[in-house]
Amino acid sequence: MRVFSVYFSPTGNTKTIVLAVGKGLSEKMSCSFYEKNFTLLKDREEVFSFDKDDIVILGTPVIAGRVPNLLLPFLQSMRFNKSLVVPVVTFGNRSYDDALRELADICEDGGGIVIGAGAFPAEHSFSTILASDRPDDNDISCAIEFGKKLGNMVEKNDCFHSVSDSIKGRDRYTREYYKPVDSRGNHIDIRKVKPKTKDSCDYCMWCVEHCPLESIDKKDPKLIAGICMKCCSCIKGCHRNAKFFDDEGFLHHKRDLEEKFISRKDIELFY
Ligand SMILES: Cc1cc2nc3c(=O)[nH]c(=O)nc-3n(C[C@H](O)[C@H](O)[C@H](O)COP(=O)(O)O)c2cc1C
Repeated sequence: MRVFSVYFSPTGNTKTIVLAVGKGLSEKMSCSFYEKNFTLLKDREEVFSFDKDDIVILGTPVIAGRVPNLLLPFLQSMRFNKSLVVPVVTFGNRSYDDALRELADICEDGGGIVIGAGAFPAEHSFSTILASDRPDDNDISCAIEFGKKLGNMVEKNDCFHSVSDSIKGRDRYTREYYKPVDSRGNHIDIRKVKPKTKDSCDYCMWCVEHCPLESIDKKDPKLIAGICMKCCSCIKGCHRNAKFFDDEGFLHHKRDLEEKFISRKDIELFY
C-alpha cells in the first residue's frame, strides 16, 4: 500500500499534523510515503486521484467552522476510488464545528472509505495567543501515534467500515458558517478585508509567491487585487513583519476570540 499526506496549509499547522499522521502510518505499515501539498493555486491545477491500495490523510484548516469554501471545487474534484481516507482538520482553539464531518462527506462523495478522522487545535491563523505555538511536541506525538493506530487497524483488516457517522458535526443540510460579531452582537462581514503593507516591505516577493489565491500583485506586493481569505500566510511568513490588518471590525473579531477561547483545547480523534 502507499500512504499519502495531502494538505492545504497557509501557515503550516495542517502540514505538520498531516505529515505526522502519515509518518506514523507509513512507518507502522513499512510502506512508501508521499506528500501532496495543494496550498498554492498552481498545485490545484491537476485532479488528485487515488486508488484502492492507497491510504490518504487529507487535511485542511477550519475556516468559519467549515472546510474552506474556496477549496470546495478542488476538494470535490478529488477521486478516491475506494482508497482508505483519514480526514484531518486543524482549528484555532475556537471550535472545528462541522468542518471535520464536512471533509469526511467530501471524501465519501469522492469514493473514499473514511477509516478515521482527527481534529487538532493549532495556533490561530490571525492570532499568536490562541493555541499559541501549537502543534507542540505533544500534539505531534499524538498525531504519530494516531497514524500507528490506524496502521495497526489496516493490518488487522479492522477498518473497512466508515466512521463518518461518529464524527461530531451537523449533517450537510443544516450546516452554517460561523459569523463574527461586533460588540453589540451584530454580524460583521470581513469578506472584503485585506491586509495593508508597511514601508518596511523590501519587495522580496515571498508573500506574492506564497499567497494561496495568487491575490497579491506580482510586481507590487503592496497591491492586493484579488480575494483575501485571511489565511495570514503573508502576515506570518513576512520576514519584515510588513503585512498587517487594520480593519476595526476584523480586529474586534480577533480580540473577541482571544478573550473567549483562551483555554487549552484537546485533540479529538475518531476511529
Ligand atoms: C478566515 C479564518 C477563519 C477561521 N475560522 C476558524 C474557526 O471557525 N474555528 C477555529 O477554531 N479556528 C478557525 N481558524 C483558525 C485556523 O483553522 C487554524 O489556525 C489552522 O490551524 C490554520 O491552519 P494552517 O496553519 O495550516 O494554515 C480560522 C482561520 C482563518 C484564516
